[in-house]
Amino acid sequence: MSKHTIPHISQINGQPVLMVGDKPFILLAGEVHNSDSSSPAYMEKIWAIADELGMNTLLLPVTWEMIEPEEGHFDFSVPKALIDQARERDMHIVFLWFGSWKNAECMYAPAYVKTDLVRFPRAQIEKGKNKAGREISPAIPVKAPYTTLSYLGEETMKADARAFAAWMGFLRDYDGERQTVAAVQVENETGLLGAAREVSDAADALFAAEVPADFAAYMRSHTGTMTEEIRSAVVHGRENGSWTEVFGGAAEEIFSAYHVARFVNTVAEAGKAVYPLPMTVNCWLDKGGAPGSYPTGGPVSRMHEVWDFCAPSIDTYCPDIYVPQFKEVCDEYTRRGGALFIPECATHSYCAPRLVYTVGHYHAMCYSPFGFDDIGKPFTAVQGFLFGMDVNDPALRTPQSFEEYSAFGKILREMMPMLAEAYGSDRLQAVSAETDPAIPDPSGNPFLAKQPAMDFGAFTVTVGFQSQINPRGDGVCLCLAVSDHECWIVGNACDIRLNSGNKEQPNLDLLLLEEGRFEDSRWIPGRRLNGDESAQLSMDKPSVWHLKFFTYQ
Ligand code: DGJ
Repeated sequence: MSKHTIPHISQINGQPVLMVGDKPFILLAGEVHNSDSSSPAYMEKIWAIADELGMNTLLLPVTWEMIEPEEGHFDFSVPKALIDQARERDMHIVFLWFGSWKNAECMYAPAYVKTDLVRFPRAQIEKGKNKAGREISPAIPVKAPYTTLSYLGEETMKADARAFAAWMGFLRDYDGERQTVAAVQVENETGLLGAAREVSDAADALFAAEVPADFAAYMRSHTGTMTEEIRSAVVHGRENGSWTEVFGGAAEEIFSAYHVARFVNTVAEAGKAVYPLPMTVNCWLDKGGAPGSYPTGGPVSRMHEVWDFCAPSIDTYCPDIYVPQFKEVCDEYTRRGGALFIPECATHSYCAPRLVYTVGHYHAMCYSPFGFDDIGKPFTAVQGFLFGMDVNDPALRTPQSFEEYSAFGKILREMMPMLAEAYGSDRLQAVSAETDPAIPDPSGNPFLAKQPAMDFGAFTVTVGFQSQINPRGDGVCLCLAVSDHECWIVGNACDIRLNSGNKEQPNLDLLLLEEGRFEDSRWIPGRRLNGDESAQLSMDKPSVWHLKFFTYQ
């Protein structure tokens, strides 16, 4: 029996926060490439890189084919070795259950599932076909061969749920006391490619039948949080009837989401009944495409109300962010008060600033670059495609510097307990060049542009990015207020001004400005900065400063 409550999610000041060892915890994480965690020997060097990058957690696949090679015969030797490796390094793990879905395909189902197409039917995107061609994009004249398991396969769902429950039983027995594993992702990028819904005879019959009355009623009573497109479909649809009658033009996607989410929930619920760790699902974003061009039925933001109804065992919907519209996606995924949990993101030059920004601004539960061992290396062709090379912003075309990520990662890892304690309060804020560009003055005078500012009541921190002194465009600045007269600032590529927020005492002067570093969460001061170094507060490398100040009339 552990002396700690099992890792869980608590609401702190209205903010969902992950608790590990009964304390708020931030997953400063990295996700490994898909095949790495199949070999603990290979993982040795990956753990070392993660440590050098300041990570405290790794997101590691555990696959159905690995743990249940034959039906009912389980082998947990590889995940057991991975947990041991994490413990040796004082790291945590979030396991990713690659079960029936992996990137909207079924690559990781065991052979006994893949080969029995009667018991475990495939999804039909073309009637009667187990594998069909799917359009990649209207501009590409060839089709990609596509197959995956049907979301209507009751036997598949039961087999997946049984294997997942066995997996969670292993975690309870092997990790219930030490609690190295903080959460589990259920499946990976669920949904259907190539069509908005399955078109087998069984799927057609269900689609033409009545929408379950409790679900139709739920959707009608939750229009307040819906995206406009779905809200409009729901309010203009009939109260009861077929899927098309109730949900109009959104019917096919809602039908897919209903069945995918129900399937995933059955798996998650079976696992939670055994060992109730926090459970997440990740999402392949729609990127503005039509259903079928992205895995339809997956937890894209406009399907969240459907997922809420069908998948109450899932705690958080998580975006995999490879698109340039970073802030828009984070805002979409937090618009209903949920935690920001980014299990995968790109490793271009915004990777490190976004780490600092998501912790400081969104109080994120997890930030995790995908294939982080590639940080600092030139992009591969796949990364070039994934990260969208056809962009104007040079930061999106430049690989993240290893040294910069490592410096920020280590600062945040050491400060993590202080930062996590401030989650849900406005004592912790951040701005970045990417998300908070200065608002130009109509006169065109750059000195009059309105710079982004963080308001702590008693004082404000105004931050300039891309000035004459500071020409880079990928700066970031996080501020943690300790009191009305003291704060910590973490940042890079920015100029900082502190002002009083107190109208009675409008002047502010510094009493202490120290650079330094944290070791074992203890502050080790470096130089005391004054004179030229405090006349213009400018950070030109990833830094942490301790500041004390006073205000007067
Ligand atoms: C998204 C998936 O979820 C990951 O497993 C991986 O395949 C990445 N894409 C990058 O290729």
